[in-house]
Amino acid sequence: MKVRWLRVSKVKIPKTLLMGAATAATQIEGGDYNNNWYQWSLEGKIADGGSSITACDHWNRVAEDVCLMKELSIETYRMSIEWSRIYPKKGQVSEEGINHYIDEIDLLLKHNIVPLITLHHFSSPIWIQDIGGWKNKETIGHFLNFVETVVTFLGDRVCEYGVINEPNVFANDTYMDGKYPGGENGNVFAFFKASKHLIMAHVESYQLIHKLRSEKGFKGETKVGVLNHMTHFELTTKNKLFNLTKKFIDHSFHEFYFKGMVEGILTFPYVKRRVAKKGIYADFIGVNYYTRNMISPSFDITTLFGEVHNTKGLTNENKTDLDWEIYPKGLSKVITRIYNQYHLPIYITENGIADAKDTLRKDYINKHLKEVVQLIDNGVDIQRYYYWSLLDNLEWNDGYGPRFGLIEVNYDTQVRTIRESGYRYKKIIVNREIDLD
Ligand code: GAL
Repeated sequence: MKVRWLRVSKVKIPKTLLMGAATAATQIEGGDYNNNWYQWSLEGKIADGGSSITACDHWNRVAEDVCLMKELSIETYRMSIEWSRIYPKKGQVSEEGINHYIDEIDLLLKHNIVPLITLHHFSSPIWIQDIGGWKNKETIGHFLNFVETVVTFLGDRVCEYGVINEPNVFANDTYMDGKYPGGENGNVFAFFKASKHLIMAHVESYQLIHKLRSEKGFKGETKVGVLNHMTHFELTTKNKLFNLTKKFIDHSFHEFYFKGMVEGILTFPYVKRRVAKKGIYADFIGVNYYTRNMISPSFDITTLFGEVHNTKGLTNENKTDLDWEIYPKGLSKVITRIYNQYHLPIYITENGIADAKDTLRKDYINKHLKEVVQLIDNGVDIQRYYYWSLLDNLEWNDGYGPRFGLIEVNYDTQVRTIRESGYRYKKIIVNREIDLD
């Protein structure tokens, strides 16, 4: 579809792009004692002694938060279902958990908010952690049971699922950087083993969800996607020897997962082979994009002598509170790359900024959305944009410091306040127009 450009400062957004916001259960719900992030909190692994038990108390404030979504004119909401809320103990299904999510999703539907459900977003029940988490092949079977339970109880309510959020970041932060539950440092072996299991879990879930929804005659076109973190890597050296380093890092972060999940093919360091029959195991590609990353020469053999880092020498205007470079062009680069490879519909499943003072968020959203509209204008099939995040929340091991929300959360009182940038985002959704002035 052709997008009309009004004045240079105003950019029209096509109606085919649904806009909304994303969250993840562990980061907002609070109160879950059966989750491995609770255990991790008890071990003091979250910044400033934070605990996943606090979060935004969303579990008890669903109605309030859906009202806020309405206030922001959110059209679609990406949320996750917490495995440990459905299977708190091995073999035990929680009716309370099931009913809670049914009520939450019914409320979204009542308000015409289209749900996109993530089935795994960085967290597991403690009993899964106890058997070795994703390093243990047995975890795949337990995960598939969970997927079957969820898809069955949600029935007609949900037809779009993202199976595993950012397997690349999840495996890296767990087995290479030791930042997530079960954390290890530089265990390349565990990294690839767990990644292989995540790939297998995705491919099997894809087939299972399609089969279940079709056999049970659930309404709506079933769409199951991959959700990957994408970045744009750049070398800081012109030395051609490091092209191989970049290729290896890029492969381990992007290609390994896309080939695995979308095509069911395991690649290097595995001997190339299929984990499923020839086919495409994704109906859309979810792209989570935040920033670009630089690669500098180093002595680290596990990354083939490359050190991945943020761009150095940034000013406050072009970096976020987490020191990530604001680089909107990178969104076009990563989407163009993956769209040219697969020609599958693109959902931008995360894009956002940690900006406690709310001085940069408005511009960040405008500039990234401008890239999105340009891509659509050039024929790229982008169907969704989810701002990360609806609310300030628990930024995993970094705790409650980073503020990503369209809505500010006071963690002492749990009072929510829509930020100025939140209202600006609402204006974009309502007017279907970005105002770059
Ligand atoms: C992503 C992750 C989200 C959120 C976001 C902001 O990697 O999927 O849960 O933490 O980063 O850093």
